[in-house]
Amino acid sequence: MSSSEKLLSSIPKALYFDDEDRFFILDQTKLPTDEVIEEQKSVEQVYDSIYQLKVRGAPAIGIAGAYGLVISLKNSLDLDLEDFLQLVYKNAEYLNSSRPTAVNLSWALNKLSKIASEYPKDGTTKELYKILRDEAVAIHNGDIKTCRQIGEFGSELIKEGNGVLTLCNAGALATGGIGTALAPMYVAWSKGKRFKAYSSETRPLLQGARITCWELNKFGVDTTMIADSVSSYLMKLGRVDMIVVGADRVANNGDTANKIGTSSLAINAKFYGVPLYIACPYSTIDTNSKSGADIVVEERGKEELIYIKGQQIAPKDIKVFNPAFDVTDSSLIAGFITEKGIIRPPYNFSKS
Ligand code: MRU
Repeated sequence: MSSSEKLLSSIPKALYFDDEDRFFILDQTKLPTDEVIEEQKSVEQVYDSIYQLKVRGAPAIGIAGAYGLVISLKNSLDLDLEDFLQLVYKNAEYLNSSRPTAVNLSWALNKLSKIASEYPKDGTTKELYKILRDEAVAIHNGDIKTCRQIGEFGSELIKEGNGVLTLCNAGALATGGIGTALAPMYVAWSKGKRFKAYSSETRPLLQGARITCWELNKFGVDTTMIADSVSSYLMKLGRVDMIVVGADRVANNGDTANKIGTSSLAINAKFYGVPLYIACPYSTIDTNSKSGADIVVEERGKEELIYIKGQQIAPKDIKVFNPAFDVTDSSLIAGFITEKGIIRPPYNFSKS
């Protein structure tokens, strides 16, 4: 194994599924201070882990949804096939309702439900279970490969000495592999290219501070954290050569839902002439959404703004608007870094 491969294989994992069909996640709400692995034992627990962001990031919640469905079925192999199918559909629908914006969740669950619906009616429950489990594993393995390809294509964009800014966490912990937005950084760094990474803290839940800084620091990438409000000044100072972020759902015309704050970053980047790239797998592209207007943006509870780690920072009865994502207009996006290469405007994904 080359030293670059060795380094890349040391990147932490968001989740895994073992030979005894047990499903584990790294509880990301506890980072960066505690690394707690939690076994997922029921469909309700997986729903809560996704809702509470113990497991998060579009590709990772797709994989978690698939494994969550599998573990919810493994103790029901005595059911007759029709009842088993009803359980598959019911649990898939339930898991799919945990978070609305990232399309990867419904993409993975619909894939499994479709396989179940097309399974021969004279087959056995046990065989169908095995097929669904193997498909969940295949979705996970596919994502590992995809992240790596995104990393290879995206690393070509990073030049020696560049400043690369990211928001939220689209790293290994947001996927099954080495990440989407962070994958180009990992691959470039592992091959000896030296650059400066900037991680925007990402209020309110601080995925940039807690998770991206943790991941990049652990890997040895030269990383500087900034408050979200600093990004436009950083660009004015000429310290940012490119921005790379992930995506939760990309509409057919390239409008992109990603972590709240992405759209402001993109507007500022346009002003300062800094290219903003979206790194995402094809499974994040939703050709059924014609434009950003079709994307449902998740709104989360007011406690996320009123408290930081249990400490109250605003009046309890203040009104709060807390969208988890925003939609960046496709005209602000320099390109999409995907497993098939870098896609440049004009965007029309149903044709690519
Ligand atoms: O609310 P989160 O932490 O799940 O939001 C995650 C993001 O916005 C990521 O950028 C996106 O899911 C891409 S992850 C490869």
